[in-house]
Amino acid sequence: MMATGAAALLAPRSTKAAESRIEILVNEPIGQISPDLYSHFVEHLGGVVYDGIWVGEKSKIPNYNGIRKDLVDNLKKLKPGVIRYPGGCFADQYDWRDGVGPRDQRPTRVNFWADTHYKTTKAYEELEGGPQKYESNHFGTDEFVSLCRMVGAQPYLAANMRSRDVRVFLEWLEYCNAPANLTTWSTERAKNGYPQPHNVQFWGIGNESWGCGGDFTPEEYATEFRKFTAWLPTYGLQLKLIGSGPNGGDLNWTRKAFEGLALKGSRQIAKLYGWGLHYYCGSTGQQVANEFTENEWYDLLERANRMESLIESHWQVMGEYDRERRVKLAVDEWGAWHKQDPDVPPAYLYAYAGTLRDALVSALNLDTFQRHADKVAMANPAQLVNTIHSMFYTYEDKFTVTSNYHVFEMYGAHAGATAVRTDFVAPKANFTRLDAQRKETPASLWGLNGSASVKDKQLVLTVVNPHARDARETEIAIRGGAIKSGKTRTLTSTDLHARNTFANPHGLEPKDGVVSGSGSTITFTFAPASVTRLVLDLS
Ligand code: AHR
Repeated sequence: MMATGAAALLAPRSTKAAESRIEILVNEPIGQISPDLYSHFVEHLGGVVYDGIWVGEKSKIPNYNGIRKDLVDNLKKLKPGVIRYPGGCFADQYDWRDGVGPRDQRPTRVNFWADTHYKTTKAYEELEGGPQKYESNHFGTDEFVSLCRMVGAQPYLAANMRSRDVRVFLEWLEYCNAPANLTTWSTERAKNGYPQPHNVQFWGIGNESWGCGGDFTPEEYATEFRKFTAWLPTYGLQLKLIGSGPNGGDLNWTRKAFEGLALKGSRQIAKLYGWGLHYYCGSTGQQVANEFTENEWYDLLERANRMESLIESHWQVMGEYDRERRVKLAVDEWGAWHKQDPDVPPAYLYAYAGTLRDALVSALNLDTFQRHADKVAMANPAQLVNTIHSMFYTYEDKFTVTSNYHVFEMYGAHAGATAVRTDFVAPKANFTRLDAQRKETPASLWGLNGSASVKDKQLVLTVVNPHARDARETEIAIRGGAIKSGKTRTLTSTDLHARNTFANPHGLEPKDGVVSGSGSTITFTFAPASVTRLVLDLS
């Protein structure tokens, strides 16, 4: 099932003198770090739902009411904020009514992904009759909400704006949130074993409406958004609506959509809780996850780093219309998107186990969101299991956590704390990029970057050292506080391609240590190709 992997890059290592510096300004708050920055995404795509999550109650694979036990037990440890479902592009072909009621009576449909994506490939023939091609609807709203409850996350449902009308959306709201046995749909919910409302607050109004979600123009989307969200029943909840935001750097989408909402007054913009931004730093189908050169190591990290300018530029445009800054960004799809592992069955679309490089992509993104705690309310890597930038990798009774999982475990320490200004000075990492014409161009990435937060006299600092070979001896200065003691946790390897596989599930794991030194300045050496967390107790 697993690829054997590319030859290990055993880089010669050296330690530079203390040429780097991090200054943490404890008294310069940025904003509170939303626990929803550590959210997730589940779509009916490849092996995400069927096999990754849903194995069925009668499966020999250990499960809780049909949901894979290993996944629940490990996901719970990450304290996930929100889980988004059922897509993605799948959401705009989905009718939620197919996925409720007795399982043996639910209809079977052709899955959007199998029908549109695979059709031209050999894989389509190989899919046979599995649920990845013929959606059994055995996992639907109730099973999804059960998963959320098991792991302590809030459900986030995406409404179908392309192929179902407003009424279907309103009935879904009613099914989820109306009081027990008071309406037709809440009676149906009770009949299905869920008398208490699901209390779903987060609702996505479409997904990628500029593409698979309807091919709308931003002006058309604004009109549809107003229609879908006019006079929504709240059932006593504060609904948190998320708009289908831009594809990467498409500022025109943000500008014109906000302009279109504002046509009917600023109240329309204020309906939004979040504006969804999607950005994948690794493009579809180019290379498998564990085959890359040292230059390609940097190349991907530099592309991931573009998240910062995306956040800043969309935020600026949003502010032209939302002067009171009521709407935050929800980066509800992000990650490195590699080619499917050739050893994975075709039904597991875009499945692979990420490497150390993907772990750095995770850390770099989470640091970016944390640095912009005042702007980003939610972030969800795509996707939870077996697809793209996943936390888990499964195949039948096999299960492993991926490199990304460890970063989420480390970074969760920031949740709910106050992000504070942190300045990094370090020599840049230089590399060579091959452009589309295979011409070599010089490129660079910062030498160290990260984020810091403070809560109850505890300072958490997370740092990425992207350099493949050089450790960075670094002076860390705390302005406005002094360190009593501290602990470290580092994820790194001498092999840039290190990862966890079924055969070697502990191939990449963080290691703990203690901080030596105290006071307002300490020295710490960041290992090459590493993600480090320092938890510092302040006096
Ligand atoms: O995450 C996979 C797909 O990427 C999602 O369905 C879609 O929204 C995006 O294009």
